[in-house]
Amino acid sequence: MRRLELEGLKIEVFDTVPELVARAAGRLFDVLRTDPEAVIGLATGNTFIPFYDFVATGYRRAGISFEQSVTFNLDEYLGIPRESEGSYHTYMDRNFFSKTDIVSENAHIPDSNPADPEGEAENYERLITRSGGIDVQFLGIGRNGHIGFNEPGTSFDSRTHVTDLSASTIESNAPLFGKGKIVPHRAITMGIRTILDSRKIFLIACGEEKSSAIASTFTEGRMTESVPSTALKLHRNVTVLLDKPAAKSLL
Ligand code: GLP
Repeated sequence: MRRLELEGLKIEVFDTVPELVARAAGRLFDVLRTDPEAVIGLATGNTFIPFYDFVATGYRRAGISFEQSVTFNLDEYLGIPRESEGSYHTYMDRNFFSKTDIVSENAHIPDSNPADPEGEAENYERLITRSGGIDVQFLGIGRNGHIGFNEPGTSFDSRTHVTDLSASTIESNAPLFGKGKIVPHRAITMGIRTILDSRKIFLIACGEEKSSAIASTFTEGRMTESVPSTALKLHRNVTVLLDKPAAKSLL
């Protein structure tokens, strides 16, 4: 592993995805070993599939349990049943919740079909605050630099809110919904300020298709709402874990 520090952010670059995933999971296990009641912010997307697989397979051996922990997912699509193939409820049940000892009442994801989406977003933010805030937040990154579903142009002061998805996000996430299925155009996402309030953040990116988002994030002195991930420069405890293809522009 190679360590760098750019723009105040710690970076770790790994030769292989399994090495990266083992490191990220190890950091999560460390948090839970120190504080079994930790509040954990969780992400979705293809990047996190091997991560959840490693965590679910290895957590007992690592001597930790999720029984007392609380989780908050970053985001969920709007206007689909929670059981939809592409929903983040389905993703989390399949990849993580069903494979660990997490207590389902402690595992939070915004409702995918609320009567009042804005009210649901406000309640979600309130629930995070009431749980004492997020101790450790895991993040992926979209090809356009989005974090959670905070698309380019989102205010750095945003809290959990309803958002319209950009055309590129809809296109890149469409395969998860299966052929011919309608892909939602709206979502509820933690805001950028919600994410920045987390005590510790790990951002994970793998593959060459993320290299330009990573390059834009680390452009010297750049902090702009048109690249949401640049907001991470406002935080004091971020570690970015990359494989070599994603880190291409930094090496
Ligand atoms: C979705 C999620 C993001 C995630 C991104 C990257 O848009 N809302 O939180 O970071 O996908 O996904 P992938 O890992 O599939 O590239």
